[in-house]
Amino acid sequence: MKPGIAVTLQAKKLHKLFAAEIAGIDMRSDTDARSVAALIAALNDYAVCVVPHEVPLSNDEHIAFSALLGPMERNKVPNIAGTGQRVLHSEIVDQSNLDGDGNIYADDDRRLMYKRANRLWHTDMSFYDIRATWSLLSAHMVPPEGGETEFSDMRAVYDDLPDAMKTRLDGLVAEHSYWHSRVLGGGPEPSAAERATRPLARHRLVHKHPGSGRKVLYIASHVSGIVGWPDDEAKGLLAELMGLATQPPYIYSHVWSVGEVLIWDNLATMHRATPFDDQQFVRDMRRTTCRERAP
Ligand code: OGA
Ligand code: MN
Repeated sequence: MKPGIAVTLQAKKLHKLFAAEIAGIDMRSDTDARSVAALIAALNDYAVCVVPHEVPLSNDEHIAFSALLGPMERNKVPNIAGTGQRVLHSEIVDQSNLDGDGNIYADDDRRLMYKRANRLWHTDMSFYDIRATWSLLSAHMVPPEGGETEFSDMRAVYDDLPDAMKTRLDGLVAEHSYWHSRVLGGGPEPSAAERATRPLARHRLVHKHPGSGRKVLYIASHVSGIVGWPDDEAKGLLAELMGLATQPPYIYSHVWSVGEVLIWDNLATMHRATPFDDQQFVRDMRRTTCRERAP
């Protein structure tokens, strides 16, 4: 590439509102500042970008590229009693259905039960004070059917809220809890020691997206309440917002191919995993996560 020439990426739109497949960048080799800037511009525009590769990135390649997008999350594996995890690298969240020996988890394994919380609409790491910006999910093995990932465009959702709702949300702060969504997703009640590993965090329900200036409805299945509101009222409003945010026109459903890396903006979207036969088929997906700033 010639010095001084801006990099242009080709974006093929995948949905009316957002999401695009990007050509013109290889995450192994296009690691120069201008390629990265072009990708960030595409992310600020499309919020979800699919970058295909013929061969899945290695864990090291995946981490090296992710580090170019911002400070990275290092895996603080929640201490789920009596179990071990398949730890691939401290920067990688293992989203597979495989245990440390490479075997498919039993149906009632606590680790699998908690992982199924990914099937609820959420945005990554909203339960931390320092929120996730981009997540990069790399497909190493995909099942023959099911296991799509769905995304909702939370900028468009906010834009379309009735004015009365926008006024109502102004200034409200939500509480986000990791364990709230684990239990909601069908996982067992955590012990006090498990719970203590991840305390709750507070964030505004509406924020201004840093990269685009657009307003975003920032909710997730991690939200356990609204500061200063009685529980039942908060539950009612949150259920209403979740219903509005997950209507079909706002949703893009991604059918995976091995080698793809999906990068999504957690400050502009929600996502969820969809079911597949996780007792029969392997789904090996690995995620890195960038954060608003280093802890
Ligand atoms: C994630 C996630 C969904 C999926 O990696 O953060 O929610 O389809 N994944 O695996
Ligand atoms: Mn997620």
